Amino acid sequence: MIQVNLEGIEGFADLSALDYSLPAAAHRSLTERSGEGSEFTGWLRLPEEMRSGGLKPVLTAANRIRNQSAALVVIGIGGSYLGARAGLELIRSQNYNLLKKDTPDVFFAGNTLSPCALGEIAELLGDRDFSINVISKSGSTLEPALSFRVFKSLLEKKYGAAGARKRIFATTGSSGVLYNVSEAEGYERLTLPEDVGGRYSVLSPVGLLPMACAGIDVEKIVSAASEAMQQLGKASPANPAWQYACARNHLYTCGKTIELLACYEPSFRAMAEWWKQLFGESEGKNGVGIFPASLEYSADLHSMGQYVQDGPRCLMETVVRFKDPGRDLRIPFEIGDKDGLNYLAGKPFDYVNKTAEHAVKSAHVSGGVPNIGVVADTKDETGFAELVCFFEVACAISGYMLGVNPFDQPGVEAYKKNMFKLLSAAADPVGSAQ
Ligand code: PA5
Repeated sequence: MIQVNLEGIEGFADLSALDYSLPAAAHRSLTERSGEGSEFTGWLRLPEEMRSGGLKPVLTAANRIRNQSAALVVIGIGGSYLGARAGLELIRSQNYNLLKKDTPDVFFAGNTLSPCALGEIAELLGDRDFSINVISKSGSTLEPALSFRVFKSLLEKKYGAAGARKRIFATTGSSGVLYNVSEAEGYERLTLPEDVGGRYSVLSPVGLLPMACAGIDVEKIVSAASEAMQQLGKASPANPAWQYACARNHLYTCGKTIELLACYEPSFRAMAEWWKQLFGESEGKNGVGIFPASLEYSADLHSMGQYVQDGPRCLMETVVRFKDPGRDLRIPFEIGDKDGLNYLAGKPFDYVNKTAEHAVKSAHVSGGVPNIGVVADTKDETGFAELVCFFEVACAISGYMLGVNPFDQPGVEAYKKNMFKLLSAAADPVGSAQ
């Protein structure tokens, strides 16, 4: 289970004075479904639902995809792709497509309008057999909808219209454009429950189907998640989600308006992107909210370390660590010791990595950056599931503590309105001439 270590905020907050009545009230609003946006709290019971039967269509679809394809194009944006990517990179590898394996390569499209990025995926697919998993709850998001056109037309060219249909798997809500198209075309359809919003959907078919295609043990994920949700449901100051929500909100009131999520594992990068969306979209509204940013250590210590140590003191740092990184690599001994590093020979890299973490923590804390530690046992399906549940519950509690609805995203509509206005003006010959 996830542990939260608050020792790194002691110089900034009196731990015994942290007011746990605030997360307690927020947690009640969440579990009693009395808070704002409670109609979107279906994610709380998703792991149990998936465990007791919900996973079956995911596993069936994944088998079909794996049997018929050397590559899978996952088309989605925001909550409709970040969780799958986070799981794939954390559990398998950030270099997954380069690994020798018996599962399909996975490409993520639909998260950009860049012709370079989309064209490159089409090139990388080459003449290999491939399938598409198009994911959109609403079905009307422009980026994935346009990417879907591109890759569907490639499928149709390769397999004909009927063959293409058998290679399209749509994950969507129970209504909307993609739902209607899937019905009309006979695509295999997986359902995202209406009461689960995009950024809380990773433990639904949205995240689980791409992960299952990549050979990740999704049964293990839902079983660990189901257990984690039970633990996180406990109303107690010992609940790690309460501790994290309480600490970061307290630090926010002390002027720490930016939270840096850092990890010493490069395979955590996509997980940090998922976390940024979760917290950014859930909390940044009505003029309030901690700004979520991420750093990858130790690489970023050599680019952003100066700012963290010595820049404006509005930062707090949350560092995720895995007790067991899942691989043992030792530092080689070198005859002659020309680089003077033989004093480390034979030591595990993980020992040096964790020593760096300790050293950085004490430097940053003494430089005025409070440090919250989040500790997971393993960097595998179980660790992933526990982190997802922990951050989701903490985010909902934290949002309620901040006085916002953690389940809506009204601000995202502003750019869309402008973009569609400009695009429809361009469609009009008079508008395009201007
Ligand atoms: O969290 C959210 O709701 C958003 O990030 C959505 O997931 C994102 O905008 C994509 O929406 P859709 O799945 O409807 O295409």
